[in-house]
Amino acid sequence: MLKRFTISLDEKLLDRFDDAIRQQKYENRSEAIRDLIRSSFVEEEWQADKDVVGVISMVYDHHQPNLQEKVTEIQHDYHHQIVSATHIHMDHHNCLEVVIVKGHAGSVRELTDRLRSLRGVRNCNLAMSTTGRDLH
Ligand code: NI
Repeated sequence: MLKRFTISLDEKLLDRFDDAIRQQKYENRSEAIRDLIRSSFVEEEWQADKDVVGVISMVYDHHQPNLQEKVTEIQHDYHHQIVSATHIHMDHHNCLEVVIVKGHAGSVRELTDRLRSLRGVRNCNLAMSTTGRDLH
C-alpha cells in the first residue's frame, strides 16, 4: 500500500536535488527518494554484516608471475561466498574478472581486499547490493 507524506525542504536544497535527479534521469521526485531510502538500508545491511550480495570486478595483468594462481587460490578459499565467476581476456595483457558474491558482508569485503592487494591487480571494485529480502 502506498502512503503519501509531505517533506519540507529549503529551496536551495530542493533546487540542487531536482538538478541531481534530472541528471540521473529520474522521472519524478518520489522514485528518487524511494531509491535514496533503499540505498541507505542497503548500506545499513553492509555495515551490520548481514547477508548481502555483490559484484567484484577486477582487472589484472596475467603476465604478472603467479598472479593467476593466487587469484584462483583465494577464490577457492571463499567458494561458499562465490556464486559465479567470469573471466574475460580483454587484450594481450589484461584480464577482467567479474565475480558474483553472496554471504556475510564482512567475508565478502575480506575477499575483495585480498584480491585487491595482490601485486599486478590494477583495479578491484566491489559493487554492493542486497538480497532484497527486507526491501520493498
Ligand atoms: Ni585472461
